[in-house]
Amino acid sequence: MEEINLSIKTEGYRKIDNNIFNLDNKILNEFELIYNEKKYSNNGHENTSIINNINDLKNFPYVNKLFRKILDLVKYNKISNIEFEDIWFVKSVESIYEPKKLPYVPHIDKVRKFKAMIYLNNVTLDDGPLYMTKINPNLYEDFRKNLKPDYKIKQENVVKNINLSSYKPLIGKLGTTIFFDTNTPHFAGKLSSEKSLRKIIRINFKFKKKSLLERLKKKLF
Ligand SMILES: [Fe+2]
Repeated sequence: MEEINLSIKTEGYRKIDNNIFNLDNKILNEFELIYNEKKYSNNGHENTSIINNINDLKNFPYVNKLFRKILDLVKYNKISNIEFEDIWFVKSVESIYEPKKLPYVPHIDKVRKFKAMIYLNNVTLDDGPLYMTKINPNLYEDFRKNLKPDYKIKQENVVKNINLSSYKPLIGKLGTTIFFDTNTPHFAGKLSSEKSLRKIIRINFKFKKKSLLERLKKKLF
């Protein structure tokens, strides 16, 4: 399992079907505990709980196990220019879906991150699957760097130069995992009915800023 090539650098994302981490009811129970705990849900984001401190994972052995396995995969792929940021536990439902608004329109993130999104339920076309297009994420680096501080209000990070038909809905059963660089254009799909649900754990890493030395090297050679 640790020998999966994530090919993030050239293709921007990798979806792994099948429940490779063998997730079962035990992690679903932990998800509910974390989702309902005020300490984690009090964060200003709708339907979302966030764990910022890795030490808290000792209270949640199954989430911890999943986290360690993701780290093993990152290590195997020699993705060393990232650092842990936080873990999100999200239940997306129809009532929070807003067409034409981020994150439901193609975009890249202002802060470049590497994310591992794990589906905790069977996500069909009606459950707002993540949509992505295979592209070298570095192609969007200039676009991202030129975003103004008020980019959010103007939705400046919306990507308009790719046809919608080029995006693939990443549907999948419980345990399906998607690794992606947020510089790869992506969006969350439509939640089309009251029954729609996308329950996920998302482990977020920040790309480290290059050191002064590295930046100088790049300029000189
Ligand atoms: Fe995004």
